[in-house]
Order: sequence, then C-alpha cells, then structure tokens
Amino acid sequence: MEHPLLDERPARVAAEERMADIVLPNQTNGFGTMFGGDVMAMMDKAAAIAALRFCRQPVVTASSERTDFRIPISQGEIIEALARVIYVGKTSIVVRIHLYAEHPLLGDRRLCTTGYFSMVAVGAGEEPPLPVPGLLLEDDEARQEWRVGEEIHQGVVIRRRQQKASQF
Ligand SMILES: CC(C)(COP(=O)(O)OP(=O)(O)OC[C@H]1O[C@@H](n2cnc3c(N)ncnc32)[C@H](O)[C@@H]1OP(=O)(O)O)[C@@H](O)C(=O)NCCC(=O)NCCS
Repeated sequence: MEHPLLDERPARVAAEERMADIVLPNQTNGFGTMFGGDVMAMMDKAAAIAALRFCRQPVVTASSERTDFRIPISQGEIIEALARVIYVGKTSIVVRIHLYAEHPLLGDRRLCTTGYFSMVAVGAGEEPPLPVPGLLLEDDEARQEWRVGEEIHQGVVIRRRQQKASQF
C-alpha cells in the first residue's frame, strides 16, 4: 500500500539553489588550492539545502557519486554551488551540484567541480525512510538530468543488492 504522505505531497518543480562562500587559508593545501574535503563539505551542504527546500522533510546524506574535480580552486576565490534536485525515487532524492569559482577582482567564472549526492528523507527514531514528493520535469534539460539521476539511483540499487548478497 502507498504511504499516505504521497497523496498529501503533490509533485513539484525543483529550483536551482545557490550558496556562495570565499576560500580561506585554512581550507587550502600546500599548493594554495582548496582541499577536496572542503569542496565536498560545501557540496553536501548545498545538496541538503536543495533537498530540504524541495521536500520540507528531514533528510540525511546517503551517498555521493561521480564527483569530478576538474579545475583547482585558489585561496581567496569566491565559490558558488548551484544545486538542484534532478531525480526522486520513493524516499530518496538525487541532487546535482555544480561548483563554480571566480577571482574576486576579475570575476572570471569557471565550472570547477560537479557531483551528485543521494539524500534520503527520514522519519523520527526507528521509523523507516519517508516518501518524498514527485518531481515535475519542466524542460529538456530537466528530463536529461532526470536520466542521469535515474542511472545513479539504479547504480545504488545494484550496489546495495551486491553488498547484501556478499554478506551471505
Ligand atoms: C540512508 C539511510 C536512511 C537508508 O536507510 P535504509 O533503511 O537502508 O533505507 P531503505 O533500504 O529503506 O532505502 C530507502 C531509500 O534510500 C536509498 N538508499 C539507501 N542506502 C543508500 C545509499 N548508500 N546511497 C544512496 N541511496 C541509498 C534507497 O535506494 C531507497 O531509495 P528509494 O526509496 O528512493 O528507492 C540509512 O542508511 C542511514 O541513516 N544512513 C546514515 C546517514 C548519515 O548518517 N549520513 C551522514 C550525515 S547526514
């Protein structure tokens, strides 16, 4: 039987959420570029905001996938994460995050990192994960990103199945 929350939460469009910051010396390595872990932390936060604003339910990060650090980010640069819910399963949400960096004086903007985070809506205590609203796909870009998210979700399903099988 479907969870009653599904009827109460109509499908909705996902907005592109933006989160800006500036790279401080304690976030950099010996080469003066930003630590990968700090990049991931910012992306995780942006993913949480996108998921929370989309479903208005408590969420946890279940996994991160396919994070490509393409271009290094330097100390003092302004960084901005653009996060959007691109796929929803029954209780999980895939968020795509693009991280841009720009020189604070020159304003040249570059796409440095892209990653995907799976977030799961959780209930209180021992309650199982809760259903999330459906996602309305407004345009071709959203439909294309949905397919990426679907692939990621399928990968998670296969991985978890294999993990379960290898436990016996
Ligand atoms: C994520 C978590 C809630 C899943 O709980 P669970 O009982 O295994 O959940 P279920 O098997 O019922 O699966 C629920 C959903 O989570 C998804 N999921 C479970 N583990 C996942 C993983 N490792 N990666 C991505 N998605 C995952 C499932 O695919 C399923 O999605 P669907 O309903 O859209 O098909 C649980 O593993 C957990 O609490 N993990 C710790 C989270 C955490 O501490 N994060 C860091 C701090 S926020």
